[in-house]
Amino acid sequence: MRKSREEKATILQQKIDEAQLGGGADRIASQHKKGKLTARERVQLLLDEGSFQELGMLVTHRSTQFGLDKQRFLGDGVITGYGTIEGRLVYVFSQDFTVFGGSLAEAHAQKIVKIMDLAMKNGAPVIGLNDSGGARIQEGVVSLGGYADIFYRNTLASGVIPQISAIMGPCAGGAVYSPAITDFNIMVEHSSYMFVTGPNVVKTVTHEEVSSEELGGASTHSSKSGVAHFSTANELEAIQYIKKLMSYVPQNCEEWPAHLPYEAKNEIVPALNEIVPDNANQPYDIKEVIENTIDTGSFFEVHKNFAENIVVGFARLAGRSIGIIANQPAFLAGVLDIHSSVKAARFVRFCDAFNIPLLVFEDVPGFLPGTDQEWNAIITNGAKLLYAFSEATVPRITVITRKAYGGAYDVMNSKHIGADLNFAWPSAEIAVMGAKGAAEIIFRKEITEAKDPAQKWLEKEEEYNDLFANPYNAAGRGYIDEVILPEQTRERLIRGFKMLENKADKLPKKKHGNIPL
Ligand code: HXC
Repeated sequence: MRKSREEKATILQQKIDEAQLGGGADRIASQHKKGKLTARERVQLLLDEGSFQELGMLVTHRSTQFGLDKQRFLGDGVITGYGTIEGRLVYVFSQDFTVFGGSLAEAHAQKIVKIMDLAMKNGAPVIGLNDSGGARIQEGVVSLGGYADIFYRNTLASGVIPQISAIMGPCAGGAVYSPAITDFNIMVEHSSYMFVTGPNVVKTVTHEEVSSEELGGASTHSSKSGVAHFSTANELEAIQYIKKLMSYVPQNCEEWPAHLPYEAKNEIVPALNEIVPDNANQPYDIKEVIENTIDTGSFFEVHKNFAENIVVGFARLAGRSIGIIANQPAFLAGVLDIHSSVKAARFVRFCDAFNIPLLVFEDVPGFLPGTDQEWNAIITNGAKLLYAFSEATVPRITVITRKAYGGAYDVMNSKHIGADLNFAWPSAEIAVMGAKGAAEIIFRKEITEAKDPAQKWLEKEEEYNDLFANPYNAAGRGYIDEVILPEQTRERLIRGFKMLENKADKLPKKKHGNIPL
């Protein structure tokens, strides 16, 4: 017998209710007990109230093996759809650990692929909330195929739309490679982990005993490996970070980030005069320079605990979104090494892909010497940063606060590799190397033959210092556009970025470059 309209509506409501429950009340309770939110709760917190439009709520898997025909959950373990953050369109997927542990298989993957394809066609970011036991074991190779379908789209979408991943539970095996390709990974401390092979496999293969947390927890990946750009205390904070990140980035590579309204005022900042110590070997915190230059409280640091010898992050200057890359003299004297080069290079490339102008603060004694660095390819890795800056076509301004020595001078957004404006403070020292080393090399004979070699060395060091430990040689050649007082920095930068706002620069026609990977 045909059903009445009311009966049909009831059936629909029953299905919706069933889908809302995911893997069931018990599994939801168990998720909460672990201090984790459910996939739906996360989406609700992420998006503007009432803006979520779910797609594919009634999708189920088609597998019959290993008893799966008796276990079908509406939605198949992932909530997908679109909504808004601060009124801006975003696409979202949120894996539901209460359904087969959030594991991914054919239907689950197809749902993610569907929203990724929509995001690409409509030019809006994709946000993935990951909480999954990896490939659904019962479905075999279709699970692997599903992952690859996603990786492929992650790659094609890279540089076209922003892609943000939050890791809110397990993320193991091949599952890690989708977040790895996306632009930013946010991990939740003590409840998320990422690894290619877990502690048991590690123990079998290498005989190392290591916990999940130590092997691939948020603290490990945000400080040791750099896989995570942000580590957050809990899921709510992770969601706040996603929203904050979104505020600095545009919808896609064809758009510019939103300008916040800004009223011009006196932009001279006397506090900047007091930060760099007179003694060139004394450290100072470059974040003080950053904070005193940008709009108050606007710095959003990326990779805060990883490769701390370089600081990168988003900020606003007179309401404009900018990306900052700054050597940190307070950590390893701000030296460039493998990790700091790669960290900065990836950030530069993200900003360039999404039309975010670059501001560089430079105080760098050079590249870190040693077998560890050489054997692990500081040459190739340092070249990544050089390549990333050289290729960037967004507005680019450098401020040299103190040391700009050797190859690091070239690499850190010098004019020679395409920076638009380069300023130096009077404390800048732009030279091939520090005075001590230089004196030893060029005056070796004079020093060793002197009655008092130590005294001679000191004299020659001073001679070199007087000649080169300043910004004036570089300014005399036009490598520096203006030597400015620190207090003038903010004013010059605001004016400079305004002047550059219509910059149009193109790379030579090519299929793609060959960045030294
Ligand atoms: C199917 C899975 C699953 C999986 C978990 N479940 N992982 N089902 N395929 N991969 C199911 C469990 O059977 C269980 O179902 C529920 O999810 C919750 O799992 P628990 O083990 O009870 O939870 P917990 O103790 O919190 O442990 C979570 C876990 C563990 C650490 C993720 O489940 C686990 O180790 N799973 C296997 C991980 C794995 O080896 N994945 C494959 C990686 S290889 P019930 O019915 O009891 O609720 C891979 C290759 C991809 O991903 C390659 C792509 C290139």
